[in-house]
Amino acid sequence: MVRAWYMDNDSSDQREEHHRNPPKIISLSDLHAVSGVEYFKLNVESYDTDGILEKLKKSRGYTYEDEITCSKECLPNYEEKLKSFFQEHLHTDEEIRFVVDGSGYFDVRDKNDEWIRIEVIPGDLIIIPSGIYHRFTLDTKNYIRAKRLFIGEPVWTPYNRPVDEMDCRKEYLKKLENGEFNSA
Ligand code: LAC
Ligand code: NI
Repeated sequence: MVRAWYMDNDSSDQREEHHRNPPKIISLSDLHAVSGVEYFKLNVESYDTDGILEKLKKSRGYTYEDEITCSKECLPNYEEKLKSFFQEHLHTDEEIRFVVDGSGYFDVRDKNDEWIRIEVIPGDLIIIPSGIYHRFTLDTKNYIRAKRLFIGEPVWTPYNRPVDEMDCRKEYLKKLENGEFNSA
């Protein structure tokens, strides 16, 4: 089960949990309402054959798929890559990740610009909307394997904050403001 919580302001190792004291947990429906982040639970044993991922890909137009492993051994320029993943940024398209092994944290800004940390484990598929400021880190186990999905030809370019003038940022903020993420 994916878990999400508001972060503390402690600047120690990014791979730690960084929950507040006392913890401030946020439910998935509230997470969606304050950020637009969507979540689907899949079965890592059967996603290849049970048709659920297939259906999701079809309904959302995800035509591209590959797999990425983040670990010291597997990722070229590991330290550098991890640093850039953890740099606060946004994309012009959705960021879709389906975790098949290992774990990690996606941090997203809520509508009040506060960090929410989302723990992802095998079976978790998250969709980070275009235009939201976010970042990623491995946890202390230093290993994750995830599928990356995309609509059409993939563009992974991160735009580091501040890029408030970008259209995707303005559109995202409009959706938040209009409460478009409140139901769904
Ligand atoms: C990405 C994650 C690290 O952009 O946010 O791939
Ligand atoms: Ni990103």
